[in-house]
This record gives sequence, structure tokens and C-alpha cells, in this order.
Amino acid sequence: MSKADLIVGLQWGDEGKGKIVDHMAQTHDYVCRFAGGHNAGHTIVIDGKEYALHLIPSGVLNPDAKNIVGNGVVLSPEDFIEEMKQFGTLEGRLFLSDKAHILLPYHAQIDQAKERLKGDKAIGTTGKGIGPAYADKIARVGHRLGELRHPEKLATKITEYFEINAAIFEAMGVETPDYETLLADLRRYKEALEPFICDTTQLMWEILSDDKKVLLEGAQGTMLDIDHGTYPYVTSSTTVSAGACAGLGISPKDIGTVTGIAKAYCTRVGNGPFPSEDLGEAGDRLRKNGHEFGTTTGRPRRCGWFDAVAMRHAVRINGVDRVALMKLDVLDGFEEIKVCVAYEFEGKRIDYVPYDLEEVTPIYETYEGWRSTKGIRTFDELPEKAKHYIASLEAMIGAPIEIISTSPEREDTIVRGS
Ligand code: GDP
Ligand code: IMO
Ligand code: MG
Repeated sequence: MSKADLIVGLQWGDEGKGKIVDHMAQTHDYVCRFAGGHNAGHTIVIDGKEYALHLIPSGVLNPDAKNIVGNGVVLSPEDFIEEMKQFGTLEGRLFLSDKAHILLPYHAQIDQAKERLKGDKAIGTTGKGIGPAYADKIARVGHRLGELRHPEKLATKITEYFEINAAIFEAMGVETPDYETLLADLRRYKEALEPFICDTTQLMWEILSDDKKVLLEGAQGTMLDIDHGTYPYVTSSTTVSAGACAGLGISPKDIGTVTGIAKAYCTRVGNGPFPSEDLGEAGDRLRKNGHEFGTTTGRPRRCGWFDAVAMRHAVRINGVDRVALMKLDVLDGFEEIKVCVAYEFEGKRIDYVPYDLEEVTPIYETYEGWRSTKGIRTFDELPEKAKHYIASLEAMIGAPIEIISTSPEREDTIVRGS
């Protein structure tokens, strides 16, 4: 019986999970997504060629790795089919849970309408329909991939759902799908996806029993978790490691090493509290050096300094065994690098994440910068100041930093002790 290795984002998403999943997929047989939808955008660069993945697990770029999309995911058939086109046949390499919920175009319309109505209180969602698809799931009015096997029945159920909610949808400006068009779409989805739809829970149990090497790929980040993030400025799924069990049908005992992914600084896209945000020159420079523009929506990401308080919280909540510190090269050339080491909250210094992160003021320590780390592949070659920065972060967050990434390229990755 093998244990599944888990990768989770420790900040507000976009930490560089895709690069590390791809790196680790080279030594794993299966890569499995357990939460989120096509709000995720995972960029992988191999020999200068860039791939953007949203729903297909980042193991797909390794020809020997098989890919599972678990029941915890909300899957847009339209977007999934589009994403599949970049790859050759995926038969035998891709398995989609029959219990994953279907995200349809009206979910995106509802998402966008609600955001518009919220005005300056908007969450800044990706507008992809993630919240409404999970809301339907929890309200027990959603539909699962298994239902694609019977398009007529599904089209009828969706039509009835629109009849019941007609007044609400009309007020929001959400169009009622035309029955014939809907049915034609569902038939098309069935044709493209049915070969991949199966009971992935049984499959997970089988592959773990067969001692296969299994990697679980988190999406989003800890601070976007529906329970543990900066609610309501969060996504609608459980992004922390606990979500991997529910989202794939495995038990906590099936989990092996947990690798947490964090940038050497911090970013956030969308609205909501971000204590260590830098709204000045340093933030602009991080955005420019780090190409901090969203993979999914192209929006500029808000940038700031590494937040060691939020990171300690994330390390504990996810049971992180080791951290991969990404984008160290983006800090190259900074004279001074700040780290948020505590918060001031109600006139006191605190070292934990309180109920409302909006109310805190960051307390910084300053570190000396270095010239260049770009493309370095061994720890010994790193500048002493960069080594000192890494050692200081390790001491603050309570987990070893065992992987350090120095460029988007697959090979520019330091694995300590290897
Ligand atoms: P994910 O959502 O966590 O998979 O991360 P994204 O792919 O959305 O964002 C991370 C971005 O940083 C991508 O464009 C990566 O190619 C890039 N990236 C990853 N690691 C490094 C690194 O070490 N240095 C630099 N400069 N870029 C990196
Ligand atoms: P990856 O997997 C960064 C953010 C959105 C918004 C909030 C809610 O690439 O790290 P949603 O559309 O999910 O309802 O939006 O969550 N968000 C992400 N931010 N990376 C992501 O995924 C994200 N997925 C959602 O910007 O603030
Ligand atoms: Mg991303």
C-alpha cells in the first residue's frame, strides 16, 4: 500500500504549483486534482515552451504519468474539451470522476451577474462560475459528470431548474438555455468525455493498493480556502490538504509527504485583505520582474512581501513536511528585502492569523539583497545573502525549505540533499 504525496499552495494561489507538480510528476505514476475548477491556471515551461493548464492535472506533460480528476472538482465540459485539444489522445491516461460536478455556461453568467451587483464589494472572482457551481452542489441541485451518460434526462432536469428559478434568473439577466441547444451541447460533451468518466474512488484505492506512486495536485492556495482563508474573499472549495481526502475519496492515512508551495515574496489576485502588499515601487518591481499577471484572467496580480505569519498558519493547517520556495530570482537585484514577521492588532503585537486580517498592520524585518540567483541549480552556488534569507524564513515558518526554484524552466530547480 503506497501513500500519496500531496502538493498544496500556501499563499493566495499562483505560487508555482504547476512547475513543482510537473517536476515531481517525473517520478510519479498518477497525478490527481482534488478541488477547484478552471479558475486555476498552472503554467509549466519546458525548453522555452509555455503550457497553461486549468483543469487537466499538470502530470499530463509527462507521457508516462496518468491523470485523475477527482469528485471534488467542478468541471466545465466546454473548457475541458478545449484544453484537451493541445494534447494528442489522452485515452488510458485520463480519468474523470463520475461524481465531479458539472459547471455549465449559466454558472459563469450567474457568477458575473453577482459580481456586477456587488459593485465595490465584489470578490474579484475569475468569473468562471466556480462559486455558483459549488453553491448548486451544496444546495443539492447540482449535476454530476455521471449524468452526462443520459443527456435527455439531464437536459430536462436543467430546464426544470430554470423554470423553478425563472424570476431570480430574469432579475440577474441570466439567459434560460434553449432546450434543443442545451441537449445538443450535452450530447457533444457526452461524446467527448464519456470514455474518460469512471469511478475514480475505486481507482484511487486500486492504485494505492498496487503501490503506485501517486501525486495529489492542489489548486488555489491556503488563504483562499473557503473556511481558513480571508472569507468572503476566497474561492468556494477546500484548498487545504484536508480537501484532498474528500475530493478524491481517500483517507487521511493515505497521505504521505506534504509539499507546500510558496513564493519567496507574496501575491494575490482579486480583492480582499493582503497585509504585506506593497503599493509602491517595490510592488511594481516585483510585478514586472515576476511577470505577475494572471494565467486565467490576465489581471495584474497585487504584489508584496513574504508573510511569515500567514505562512506559519498555512504550514500548520496543511501539515507541511517541506516547502518549495519559488521565484527566488524575482528578488534578484533588490537592495533590501522585507519580511512580515508579526502583525500589530488592536495595539498589540501578535504572531497568529486573527479572525479579520483586514484589521492588522504588518511588522517587518529587513534583509540584505543579493545580485543574482537566476538559473542556479545547486544550493551551494546561491549567494550567501540568499542562503541567509532562506535560513531565516525556515526558522520563522517551522518547516524546512527543501526545494528552491530559480526560473520558470523545469530544470532550474534546486532540490536540497539530492
Ligand atoms: P500556480 O497556479 O501555482 O501553478 O502558479 P502559476 O503558474 O499561476 O504562476 C506561477 C508563474 O511563475 C508561472 O508563470 C511560472 O512559469 C512562473 N514561475 C514558476 N517558478 C518560477 C521561478 O522560480 N522563477 C520565475 N521567474 N518564475 C517562475
Ligand atoms: P491557482 O490554482 C490565484 C481567486 C480569484 C478571486 C477568488 C475567488 O492558479 O493558484 P473564484 O473564481 O475562485 O470564485 O474567485 O479566488 N482565485 C485564484 N487566485 N490563483 C488561483 O488558482 C485562483 N483561483 C481563484 O482571483 O480572488
Ligand atoms: Mg495560477
